[in-house]
Amino acid sequence: MSRKVLMCVFVAVCLSIAGISIADNGPADMVLQAEKDKAKKPKPAVFPHAKHQEVAECADCHHSAKDGKAVPYQEGQEIGKCEDCHYKGSSMPKKLDSYKGAAHQNCKDCHKKVVEEKPELAEKFAKCMPCHPKK
Ligand code: HEC
Ligand code: HEC
Ligand code: HEC
Ligand code: HEC
Repeated sequence: MSRKVLMCVFVAVCLSIAGISIADNGPADMVLQAEKDKAKKPKPAVFPHAKHQEVAECADCHHSAKDGKAVPYQEGQEIGKCEDCHYKGSSMPKKLDSYKGAAHQNCKDCHKKVVEEKPELAEKFAKCMPCHPKK
């Protein structure tokens, strides 16, 4: 092995010992907005991605698909945009055939559980909050 290769291996080992993942965790903060569904009244949703990676598993939100069925998340899988599969005109069941539908089911179901466990968050998580803050 060349010195360069050895050096790379050494750095990779150090990083993994330090617990620093080289995997792609995506953006830390996002503003989610449907593109395909072309809503007349855009309603962007704020989404602190990195914060969620501290309180939830990748598999709570990400999956892939095969033969029209959702395939559970596997580490290192390619991560697509929700709208790649969830859009009007896809053969998805109703309620899942839009970004809004897929996101609402995923985001809201979990937030409901969060509020059950932490009632003090009920106000912060009321109605369309904290996802669609008023401008
Ligand atoms: C609470 C839900 C949630 C969790 C937990 C979560 N993500 Fe995400 N992630 C999302 C959403 C929503 C998007 C935006 C998808 C889109 O643009 O349609 C996203 C986007 C991404 C992207 C960018 C994809 C692209 O098209 O550019 C990557 C990479 C990613 N996530 C990786 C991860 C990894 C790795 C983990 C676990 C360590 C994780 N995510 C945990 C919800 C989540
Ligand atoms: C590669 C295609 C694909 C991508 C990308 C994808 N999904 Fe899905 N999703 C599916 C399929 C297929 C199903 C199963 C639909 C059915 O029940 O018939 C599904 C099901 C779901 C369900 C129903 C519950 C479940 O887990 O089965 C939710 C909620 C959901 N997706 C949300 C999301 C969100 C949010 C994103 C983006 C972070 C996303 N999906 C990205 C294909 C995808
Ligand atoms: C698996 C569970 C889960 C899912 C799925 C989930 N969240 Fe959350 N979300 C949480 C938890 C837990 C918190 C932190 C609650 C607290 O403050 O202790 C949170 C907090 C938030 C906050 C407030 C962050 C802050 O600054 O305090 C926003 C905004 C938010 N989520 C948006 C979303 C959106 C948008 C989605 C869907 C794309 C989503 N969440 C999906 C569990 C989830
Ligand atoms: C837990 C987070 C969360 C809550 C709560 C929530 N939404 Fe959403 N909503 C989203 C996400 C994520 C999307 C998909 C991205 C987008 O299009 O903004 C979305 C999409 C939408 C869209 C489609 C907008 C478009 O441009 O395509 C509408 C309309 C909408 N939401 C209305 C509401 C209303 C009204 C409420 C309250 C009664 C609400 N949502 C509560 C997260 C949430």
